[in-house]
Amino acid sequence: MALIEFEHVFKRYPGGSVAAVDDLNLHIEAGEFLTLLGPSGSGKTTTLMLLAGFEATSAGVIRLDGKSIESLPPHLRNMGVVFQSYSLFPHMTVAQNVAFPLSVRKVPASQIADKVTAALAKVHLENFTHRRPSQLSGGQQQRVALARALVFEPRLVLMDEPLSALDKKLREEMQLQIRRLHRELGVTMVFVTHDQSEAMTLSDRVAVFNQGRIEQLASPQELYDAPANPFVANFLGDNNMINCTLVSGADAGPEAATASVKTASGQSLQARICSTRALPENTAVKLCVRPEFLQVGLQRAALATPNCLDGTLVDLIHQGDHWRLVARLQGIGKSGPDQAPQWFAKISPGALPQGLVVGQNVCLGFRPEDTWVF
Ligand SMILES: Nc1ncnc2c1ncn2[C@@H]1O[C@H](COP(=O)(O)OP(=O)(O)O)[C@@H](O)[C@H]1O
Ligand SMILES: [Mg+2]
Repeated sequence: MALIEFEHVFKRYPGGSVAAVDDLNLHIEAGEFLTLLGPSGSGKTTTLMLLAGFEATSAGVIRLDGKSIESLPPHLRNMGVVFQSYSLFPHMTVAQNVAFPLSVRKVPASQIADKVTAALAKVHLENFTHRRPSQLSGGQQQRVALARALVFEPRLVLMDEPLSALDKKLREEMQLQIRRLHRELGVTMVFVTHDQSEAMTLSDRVAVFNQGRIEQLASPQELYDAPANPFVANFLGDNNMINCTLVSGADAGPEAATASVKTASGQSLQARICSTRALPENTAVKLCVRPEFLQVGLQRAALATPNCLDGTLVDLIHQGDHWRLVARLQGIGKSGPDQAPQWFAKISPGALPQGLVVGQNVCLGFRPEDTWVF
Protein backbone atom coordinates (compact mmCIF):
# COMPACT_ATOMS: atom_id res chain seq x y z
CA MET A 1 0.00 0.00 0.00
CA ALA A 2 1.23 3.48 -0.80
CA LEU A 3 1.80 5.88 2.10
CA ILE A 4 -0.36 8.56 0.45
CA GLU A 5 -3.05 8.11 -2.16
CA PHE A 6 -4.81 10.91 -4.03
CA GLU A 7 -7.86 9.55 -5.77
CA HIS A 8 -9.85 11.68 -8.23
CA VAL A 9 -9.02 14.81 -6.24
CA PHE A 10 -10.40 18.15 -7.43
CA LYS A 11 -9.86 21.62 -5.99
CA ARG A 12 -11.86 24.64 -7.10
CA TYR A 13 -11.23 27.91 -5.30
CA PRO A 14 -14.24 30.14 -4.68
CA GLY A 15 -14.73 32.27 -7.81
CA GLY A 16 -12.10 30.30 -9.75
CA SER A 17 -13.28 29.43 -13.27
CA VAL A 18 -11.07 26.36 -13.73
CA ALA A 19 -10.06 23.63 -11.30
CA ALA A 20 -6.67 24.37 -9.69
CA VAL A 21 -6.32 20.61 -9.22
CA ASP A 22 -8.19 18.63 -11.83
CA ASP A 23 -8.87 14.94 -11.21
CA LEU A 24 -5.53 14.19 -9.57
CA ASN A 25 -4.53 10.57 -9.04
CA LEU A 26 -1.20 10.11 -7.30
CA HIS A 27 0.41 7.52 -5.03
CA ILE A 28 3.36 8.49 -2.84
CA GLU A 29 5.49 5.59 -1.61
CA ALA A 30 6.97 5.50 1.89
CA GLY A 31 10.57 6.74 1.92
CA GLU A 32 10.64 8.18 -1.58
CA PHE A 33 11.66 11.67 -2.70
CA LEU A 34 8.85 12.85 -4.95
CA THR A 35 8.95 16.21 -6.72
CA LEU A 36 5.99 18.09 -8.14
CA LEU A 37 7.44 19.98 -11.12
CA GLY A 38 5.57 22.38 -13.38
CA PRO A 39 5.12 25.96 -14.53
CA SER A 40 3.65 28.64 -12.30
CA GLY A 41 -0.08 28.17 -11.73
CA SER A 42 -0.10 24.45 -12.58
CA GLY A 43 -1.47 23.40 -9.17
CA LYS A 44 1.67 22.29 -7.30
CA THR A 45 1.18 24.43 -4.19
CA THR A 46 -2.53 23.60 -4.08
CA THR A 47 -1.69 19.88 -4.14
CA LEU A 48 0.73 20.35 -1.26
CA MET A 49 -1.78 22.43 0.74
CA LEU A 50 -4.45 19.75 0.25
CA LEU A 51 -2.01 17.14 1.54
CA ALA A 52 -0.94 19.26 4.53
CA GLY A 53 -4.58 20.06 5.36
CA PHE A 54 -4.40 23.84 4.87
CA GLU A 55 -6.97 23.59 2.06
CA ALA A 56 -9.96 21.27 1.73
CA THR A 57 -10.61 19.16 -1.39
CA SER A 58 -13.67 20.00 -3.53
CA ALA A 59 -14.09 16.33 -4.48
CA GLY A 60 -12.15 13.08 -4.26
CA VAL A 61 -10.24 11.52 -1.40
CA ILE A 62 -6.71 11.67 0.04
CA ARG A 63 -5.61 8.68 2.13
CA LEU A 64 -2.73 8.21 4.56
CA ASP A 65 -2.01 4.53 5.25
CA GLY A 66 -5.24 3.68 3.49
CA LYS A 67 -7.44 5.95 5.65
CA SER A 68 -9.05 9.19 4.51
CA ILE A 69 -7.46 12.22 6.18
CA GLU A 70 -10.25 14.63 5.27
CA SER A 71 -11.31 15.26 8.88
CA LEU A 72 -7.77 15.43 10.31
CA PRO A 73 -6.54 18.96 11.10
CA PRO A 74 -3.00 19.84 9.87
CA HIS A 75 -1.22 19.34 13.23
CA LEU A 76 -2.58 15.77 13.51
CA ARG A 77 -1.36 14.73 10.04
CA ASN A 78 2.25 14.28 11.20
CA MET A 79 3.70 16.25 8.27
CA GLY A 80 6.46 18.86 8.47
CA VAL A 81 6.10 21.77 6.06
CA VAL A 82 8.71 24.18 4.68
CA PHE A 83 7.51 27.16 2.64
CA GLN A 84 9.23 29.38 0.09
CA SER A 85 9.35 32.33 2.47
CA TYR A 86 11.13 31.19 5.60
CA SER A 87 8.08 31.94 7.78
CA LEU A 88 10.17 31.86 10.96
CA PHE A 89 8.82 33.79 13.94
CA PRO A 90 11.01 36.94 14.00
CA HIS A 91 10.65 37.58 17.74
CA MET A 92 11.79 34.05 18.69
CA THR A 93 15.31 32.65 18.79
CA VAL A 94 16.37 29.79 16.52
CA ALA A 95 15.87 27.31 19.38
CA GLN A 96 12.40 28.70 20.19
CA ASN A 97 11.39 28.52 16.53
CA VAL A 98 12.44 24.89 16.26
CA ALA A 99 10.76 24.06 19.61
CA PHE A 100 7.45 25.54 18.49
CA PRO A 101 5.93 22.42 16.83
CA LEU A 102 6.85 20.43 19.95
CA SER A 103 5.05 22.76 22.34
CA VAL A 104 2.00 22.79 20.03
CA ARG A 105 2.03 18.99 20.26
CA LYS A 106 2.35 19.11 24.06
CA VAL A 107 5.72 17.35 24.14
CA PRO A 108 7.00 17.36 27.78
CA ALA A 109 9.40 20.27 28.41
CA SER A 110 12.06 17.85 29.64
CA GLN A 111 12.36 16.36 26.12
CA ILE A 112 12.22 19.56 24.12
CA ALA A 113 15.81 20.77 24.53
CA ASP A 114 17.30 17.45 23.37
CA LYS A 115 15.02 17.21 20.36
CA VAL A 116 15.80 20.80 19.34
CA THR A 117 19.55 20.18 19.61
CA ALA A 118 19.26 17.00 17.55
CA ALA A 119 17.19 18.72 14.83
CA LEU A 120 19.62 21.65 14.60
CA ALA A 121 22.55 19.22 14.39
CA LYS A 122 20.93 17.59 11.34
CA VAL A 123 21.16 20.90 9.47
CA HIS A 124 24.56 21.82 11.00
CA LEU A 125 23.23 24.80 12.98
CA GLU A 126 23.84 23.59 16.53
CA ASN A 127 25.87 26.73 17.35
CA PHE A 128 23.14 29.20 16.36
CA THR A 129 20.49 28.41 18.99
CA HIS A 130 20.35 31.92 20.52
CA ARG A 131 20.30 33.96 17.31
CA ARG A 132 17.20 35.60 15.94
CA PRO A 133 16.16 34.97 12.31
CA SER A 134 17.23 38.53 11.35
CA GLN A 135 20.80 37.61 12.36
CA LEU A 136 20.96 34.70 9.89
CA SER A 137 21.57 34.49 6.13
CA GLY A 138 18.78 33.31 3.83
CA GLY A 139 20.29 29.84 3.55
CA GLN A 140 20.64 29.55 7.33
CA GLN A 141 17.05 30.67 7.86
CA GLN A 142 15.86 28.00 5.47
CA ARG A 143 17.89 25.40 7.37
CA VAL A 144 16.14 26.50 10.58
CA ALA A 145 12.79 26.09 8.81
CA LEU A 146 13.90 22.60 7.76
CA ALA A 147 14.94 21.74 11.35
CA ARG A 148 11.54 22.98 12.54
CA ALA A 149 9.84 20.68 10.01
CA LEU A 150 11.95 17.69 11.10
CA VAL A 151 11.93 18.17 14.89
CA PHE A 152 8.78 16.17 15.62
CA GLU A 153 9.95 13.26 13.43
CA PRO A 154 7.14 13.52 10.89
CA ARG A 155 6.14 10.77 8.46
CA LEU A 156 6.35 13.23 5.59
CA VAL A 157 8.22 16.44 4.92
CA LEU A 158 6.53 18.79 2.43
CA MET A 159 8.58 21.58 0.85
CA ASP A 160 7.19 24.31 -1.39
CA GLU A 161 9.95 25.96 -3.46
CA PRO A 162 12.13 26.24 -0.33
CA LEU A 163 15.26 27.27 -2.24
CA SER A 164 13.88 29.73 -4.75
CA ALA A 165 14.94 32.81 -2.75
CA LEU A 166 18.59 31.69 -2.63
CA ASP A 167 21.30 32.44 -5.17
CA LYS A 168 22.45 29.67 -7.50
CA LYS A 169 25.52 28.49 -5.61
CA LEU A 170 23.75 28.36 -2.24
CA ARG A 171 20.75 26.69 -3.86
CA GLU A 172 22.95 23.91 -5.23
CA GLU A 173 24.63 23.48 -1.84
CA MET A 174 21.23 23.22 -0.13
CA GLN A 175 20.08 20.67 -2.72
CA LEU A 176 22.97 18.42 -1.70
CA GLN A 177 22.12 18.90 2.00
CA ILE A 178 18.48 17.98 1.37
CA ARG A 179 19.59 14.89 -0.58
CA ARG A 180 21.83 13.88 2.31
CA LEU A 181 19.04 14.38 4.87
CA HIS A 182 16.66 12.29 2.79
CA ARG A 183 19.19 9.47 2.63
CA GLU A 184 20.11 9.68 6.33
CA LEU A 185 16.62 10.01 7.77
CA GLY A 186 14.70 7.84 5.31
CA VAL A 187 11.74 10.21 5.66
CA THR A 188 9.30 10.60 2.77
CA MET A 189 9.79 13.95 1.07
CA VAL A 190 7.43 15.78 -1.27
CA PHE A 191 9.11 18.76 -2.89
CA VAL A 192 7.66 21.46 -5.14
CA THR A 193 9.73 23.32 -7.71
CA HIS A 194 9.44 24.91 -11.16
CA ASP A 195 13.17 24.28 -11.74
CA GLN A 196 13.79 21.15 -13.80
CA SER A 197 17.44 20.78 -12.86
CA GLU A 198 16.53 20.97 -9.15
CA ALA A 199 13.90 18.27 -9.70
CA MET A 200 16.43 16.05 -11.48
CA THR A 201 19.06 16.54 -8.77
CA LEU A 202 16.79 15.63 -5.87
CA SER A 203 14.13 13.20 -6.91
CA ASP A 204 13.46 9.48 -7.04
CA ARG A 205 10.35 10.33 -9.06
CA VAL A 206 9.00 13.52 -10.62
CA ALA A 207 5.36 14.35 -11.33
CA VAL A 208 5.19 16.87 -14.18
CA PHE A 209 2.20 19.18 -13.60
CA ASN A 210 0.29 21.16 -16.22
CA GLN A 211 -3.03 22.92 -15.65
CA GLY A 212 -3.88 20.99 -12.49
CA ARG A 213 -3.08 17.59 -13.99
CA ILE A 214 -0.09 15.26 -14.05
CA GLU A 215 1.32 14.89 -17.57
CA GLN A 216 3.80 12.18 -16.58
CA LEU A 217 5.10 10.60 -13.39
CA ALA A 218 8.45 8.83 -13.68
CA SER A 219 12.10 8.84 -12.68
CA PRO A 220 14.13 11.85 -13.88
CA GLN A 221 15.98 9.66 -16.38
CA GLU A 222 12.79 8.20 -17.82
CA LEU A 223 11.23 11.66 -18.17
CA TYR A 224 14.28 12.86 -20.06
CA ASP A 225 14.83 9.78 -22.23
CA ALA A 226 11.20 8.88 -22.89
CA PRO A 227 8.88 11.86 -22.41
CA ALA A 228 5.22 10.94 -22.84
CA ASN A 229 4.29 14.05 -24.81
CA PRO A 230 5.66 17.37 -26.17
CA PHE A 231 4.85 19.23 -22.94
CA VAL A 232 7.16 16.96 -20.92
CA ALA A 233 9.81 16.98 -23.68
CA ASN A 234 9.82 20.79 -23.65
CA PHE A 235 9.65 21.23 -19.88
CA LEU A 236 12.47 18.83 -18.99
CA GLY A 237 15.61 19.71 -20.85
CA ASP A 238 15.84 21.55 -24.13
CA ASN A 239 14.00 20.29 -27.15
CA ASN A 240 13.69 21.05 -30.88
CA MET A 241 10.39 20.37 -32.61
CA ILE A 242 9.03 20.38 -36.16
CA ASN A 243 5.54 19.61 -37.53
CA CYS A 244 5.48 16.73 -40.01
CA THR A 245 3.08 14.25 -41.58
CA LEU A 246 3.51 10.51 -41.51
CA VAL A 247 4.37 9.03 -44.91
CA SER A 248 4.51 5.33 -44.17
CA GLY A 249 1.90 4.23 -41.67
CA ALA A 250 3.69 2.82 -38.65
CA ASP A 251 2.43 -0.10 -36.66
CA ALA A 252 5.11 -0.01 -34.03
CA GLY A 253 3.75 -2.41 -31.45
CA PRO A 254 5.34 -2.25 -28.03
CA GLU A 255 8.83 -1.86 -29.54
CA ALA A 256 9.97 1.35 -31.16
CA ALA A 257 10.00 1.32 -34.96
CA THR A 258 11.35 3.57 -37.67
CA ALA A 259 8.90 5.49 -39.80
CA SER A 260 9.13 8.00 -42.66
CA VAL A 261 7.78 11.48 -42.11
CA LYS A 262 7.65 14.54 -44.33
CA THR A 263 8.17 18.19 -43.37
CA ALA A 264 5.87 21.00 -44.59
CA SER A 265 8.39 21.68 -47.38
CA GLY A 266 8.26 18.06 -48.51
CA GLN A 267 11.57 16.94 -47.10
CA SER A 268 11.70 13.28 -45.99
CA LEU A 269 13.03 12.30 -42.59
CA GLN A 270 13.43 8.98 -40.79
CA ALA A 271 12.11 8.99 -37.24
CA ARG A 272 11.55 6.69 -34.31
CA ILE A 273 7.95 5.92 -33.37
CA CYS A 274 7.19 4.62 -29.88
CA SER A 275 3.42 4.78 -30.02
CA THR A 276 1.77 1.47 -29.26
CA ARG A 277 -1.17 2.19 -31.52
CA ALA A 278 -1.07 2.03 -35.28
CA LEU A 279 -0.87 5.48 -36.86
CA PRO A 280 -2.48 5.89 -40.29
CA GLU A 281 -0.73 7.62 -43.18
CA ASN A 282 -0.96 11.43 -43.29
CA THR A 283 -1.30 11.69 -39.51
CA ALA A 284 0.00 15.08 -38.34
CA VAL A 285 2.88 14.46 -35.95
CA LYS A 286 5.57 16.43 -34.12
CA LEU A 287 9.15 15.30 -34.49
CA CYS A 288 11.44 16.16 -31.57
CA VAL A 289 15.23 16.04 -31.14
CA ARG A 290 17.28 17.16 -28.14
CA PRO A 291 20.00 19.74 -28.97
CA GLU A 292 22.82 17.45 -27.80
CA PHE A 293 21.89 14.96 -30.55
CA LEU A 294 22.28 17.44 -33.41
CA GLN A 295 25.38 17.63 -35.56
CA VAL A 296 26.20 20.75 -37.53
CA GLY A 297 28.01 20.92 -40.86
CA LEU A 298 28.55 23.47 -43.60
CA GLN A 299 27.42 20.96 -46.23
CA ARG A 300 25.39 17.79 -46.17
CA ALA A 301 28.40 15.81 -47.27
CA ALA A 302 30.12 16.72 -44.01
CA LEU A 303 27.48 14.85 -42.00
CA ALA A 304 27.13 11.09 -41.74
CA THR A 305 23.58 11.17 -40.33
CA PRO A 306 20.58 9.86 -42.36
CA ASN A 307 18.58 13.01 -41.58
CA CYS A 308 19.50 16.55 -42.56
CA LEU A 309 17.63 19.83 -42.29
CA ASP A 310 18.86 23.04 -43.91
CA GLY A 311 19.02 26.15 -41.78
CA THR A 312 20.49 29.60 -41.50
CA LEU A 313 22.79 30.28 -38.56
CA VAL A 314 21.16 32.96 -36.40
CA ASP A 315 23.45 32.95 -33.39
CA LEU A 316 26.56 31.27 -32.05
CA ILE A 317 27.06 31.46 -28.29
CA HIS A 318 30.02 30.28 -26.26
CA GLN A 319 28.83 28.62 -23.04
CA GLY A 320 32.11 27.41 -21.61
CA ASP A 321 31.91 23.65 -21.95
CA HIS A 322 29.90 23.79 -25.20
CA TRP A 323 28.75 26.05 -28.03
CA ARG A 324 25.09 26.83 -28.49
CA LEU A 325 24.12 27.26 -32.14
CA VAL A 326 20.79 28.78 -33.10
CA ALA A 327 19.56 28.10 -36.65
CA ARG A 328 16.33 29.01 -38.43
CA LEU A 329 15.06 26.14 -40.56
CA GLN A 330 14.76 26.92 -44.27
CA GLY A 331 11.71 26.38 -46.43
CA ILE A 332 9.47 25.39 -43.53
CA GLY A 333 7.41 28.45 -42.56
CA LYS A 334 4.19 29.05 -44.45
CA SER A 335 4.22 32.84 -44.20
CA GLY A 336 7.79 33.84 -44.79
CA PRO A 337 11.08 32.88 -43.18
CA ASP A 338 10.32 34.58 -39.85
CA GLN A 339 7.72 31.92 -39.12
CA ALA A 340 10.14 29.04 -39.58
CA PRO A 341 11.03 27.25 -36.35
CA GLN A 342 14.36 27.98 -34.70
CA TRP A 343 16.37 24.98 -33.64
CA PHE A 344 19.41 24.95 -31.48
CA ALA A 345 22.29 22.59 -31.10
CA LYS A 346 24.79 21.96 -28.33
CA ILE A 347 28.16 21.34 -29.89
CA SER A 348 31.33 20.47 -28.00
CA PRO A 349 34.20 22.87 -28.82
CA GLY A 350 36.13 20.17 -30.69
CA ALA A 351 33.18 19.41 -33.02
CA LEU A 352 32.53 22.99 -34.13
CA PRO A 353 33.07 23.40 -37.89
CA GLN A 354 35.85 25.84 -38.79
CA GLY A 355 34.87 29.28 -40.05
CA LEU A 356 31.22 29.39 -38.97
CA VAL A 357 29.67 32.86 -39.21
CA VAL A 358 26.21 34.11 -38.38
CA GLY A 359 24.00 34.38 -41.48
CA GLN A 360 25.59 31.37 -43.15
CA ASN A 361 23.72 28.28 -44.35
CA VAL A 362 24.24 25.18 -42.22
CA CYS A 363 23.00 21.59 -42.17
CA LEU A 364 21.56 20.09 -39.01
CA GLY A 365 22.02 16.33 -38.93
CA PHE A 366 20.49 13.74 -36.62
CA ARG A 367 19.90 10.01 -36.37
CA PRO A 368 16.40 8.44 -36.44
CA GLU A 369 17.02 6.73 -33.10
CA ASP A 370 17.62 10.11 -31.44
CA THR A 371 14.16 11.43 -32.34
CA TRP A 372 10.69 11.01 -30.90
CA VAL A 373 7.46 11.42 -32.77
CA PHE A 374 4.29 12.46 -30.98
N1 LIG B 1 -6.21 31.07 -2.69
C1 LIG B 1 -6.55 31.01 -4.00
N2 LIG B 1 -7.72 31.52 -4.46
C2 LIG B 1 -8.06 31.44 -5.76
N3 LIG B 1 -7.29 30.88 -6.71
C3 LIG B 1 -6.11 30.36 -6.33
C4 LIG B 1 -5.67 30.39 -4.97
N4 LIG B 1 -4.46 29.78 -4.90
C5 LIG B 1 -4.16 29.40 -6.15
N5 LIG B 1 -5.14 29.74 -7.02
C6 LIG B 1 -5.18 29.43 -8.46
O1 LIG B 1 -5.07 28.04 -8.61
C7 LIG B 1 -4.20 27.71 -9.68
C8 LIG B 1 -3.05 26.84 -9.19
O2 LIG B 1 -2.24 27.61 -8.32
P1 LIG B 1 -1.04 27.02 -7.48
O3 LIG B 1 -1.46 25.76 -6.86
O4 LIG B 1 -0.56 28.10 -6.57
O5 LIG B 1 0.02 26.73 -8.64
P2 LIG B 1 1.62 26.58 -8.58
O6 LIG B 1 2.02 26.33 -7.16
O7 LIG B 1 1.90 25.44 -9.49
O8 LIG B 1 2.18 27.86 -9.11
C9 LIG B 1 -3.76 29.01 -10.31
O9 LIG B 1 -4.59 29.29 -11.39
C10 LIG B 1 -3.97 30.00 -9.19
O10 LIG B 1 -4.27 31.27 -9.70
MG1 LIG C 1 3.35 27.47 -5.97
